[in-house]
Amino acid sequence: MRFSIGFAFLFLLLLSCEDPADNSDDLSNIPYTPSDHYPITYPDSFPVPSDDISNPRTKAGVQLGRHLFYDPILSLDSSISCSSCHNPKLAFTDGKAFSPGVGGTLGNRSSMSLLNIVYFTNGLFWDGRSPNLIDQAKQPVENPVEMHENWGNVEQKLRRSTFYPELFRAAFGINKKSEIRKELAAKAIAQWESILIAGGNSHYYKVIRRKSAFTPDQADGFTMYFNLDPRFPDAQCGHCHTGRLFASSNYFNNGLDSVGNVYEFKDPGRGAVSMAPLDYGRFKAPSLINIQLSAPYMHDGRINTLEEVMEHYTKHVKPAPNIDPNVANLKLTDDQSRQILAFINTLIDTSYYKNPDFFSPF
Ligand code: HEC
Ligand code: HEC
Repeated sequence: MRFSIGFAFLFLLLLSCEDPADNSDDLSNIPYTPSDHYPITYPDSFPVPSDDISNPRTKAGVQLGRHLFYDPILSLDSSISCSSCHNPKLAFTDGKAFSPGVGGTLGNRSSMSLLNIVYFTNGLFWDGRSPNLIDQAKQPVENPVEMHENWGNVEQKLRRSTFYPELFRAAFGINKKSEIRKELAAKAIAQWESILIAGGNSHYYKVIRRKSAFTPDQADGFTMYFNLDPRFPDAQCGHCHTGRLFASSNYFNNGLDSVGNVYEFKDPGRGAVSMAPLDYGRFKAPSLINIQLSAPYMHDGRINTLEEVMEHYTKHVKPAPNIDPNVANLKLTDDQSRQILAFINTLIDTSYYKNPDFFSPF
């Protein structure tokens, strides 16, 4: 008897502690004014990406997305956040060939940089299977080798949180906690990802703006990279890792595996998306801006250093029916390989480390 009175008392005590506002679905008692546009100053020589008009970037949207990205609440057991595999200091990669998800399960692809991601509109992931950032942001939560959770649970956890309802209201003007849905979470993450611009303060861009100059090695590397002078060998890189972002919106086979027919590739890559035979074993050619930060390299992290990447392109290119005509064992001396790397090293720009909005709010 005494026990049950004690229990009833405890129950009443708990009830009285509960803030009635927290318990209700209503958010309209929280003042709301539409959030301002989040401005970005794009580097001088960079293209200005077209804004996603279905998802205008606001200050409150960016802050919500930033919280969600760094919060393990999105995973089954609160052990993994997006940032577990996308570490801001490593150009948003994780330094590993394969990233452990919930329970340590490994996937079969290497994490990818998220810097300048807003520019890559011809498919996300190594095989381009996701059409845009909003679609992409919904996927890791339910991927069993990543966050291994389901969106229904995540929505419940966000609605019960002490601070997310307010952040969602500020970002999207919702009136009820039940309006917190995966679509809005994904939109906020996409807004935040669209601010991750980097590279404009690199030595390379200072040279482009005539504020600095290349060393002789960097200049020779640049010449070979873009095949600018017939007296130098064509290092071929500029056919694929090209343009202002040193990337491509296309998919290529760069000679990693020797196969007799395209269905032998261990990872079908782009082929599993397009089903076109020649796309098997083709992958996205990533941006080389800040590539120094995102080792190990290639879709499965098989190459550890940039020196070894140069060895791949000069000595270990393997035959396949769909190897790109621009990839062949290059006839470069070791010294020329070193010069190419001296040039690629001018693309590093860690000035984004100083932007607190790129980093965790927690
Ligand atoms: C367990 C590790 C892991 C977690 C957690 C994770 N990612 Fe990734 N991410 C990866 C891997 C691996 C890839 C490449 C996968 C592929 O190509 O199949 C990737 C690719 C991406 C890409 C595509 C980049 C490009 O250039 O195409 C984006 C964007 C991205 N992740 C965002 C996120 C967001 C947002 C979250 C959280 C909601 C997240 N990731 C959680 C490992 C992870
Ligand atoms: C035909 C197009 C093509 C050419 C030419 C080319 N690459 Fe690549 N590169 C790719 C593709 C595609 C990948 C990704 C391959 C994969 O992971 O399966 C890649 C991957 C890389 C990576 C690893 C990127 C990462 O995020 O892991 C580096 C570094 C790189 N290339 C540097 C170079 C350099 C340096 C040259 C010139 C010597 C060069 N590439 C020439 C297409 C090309």
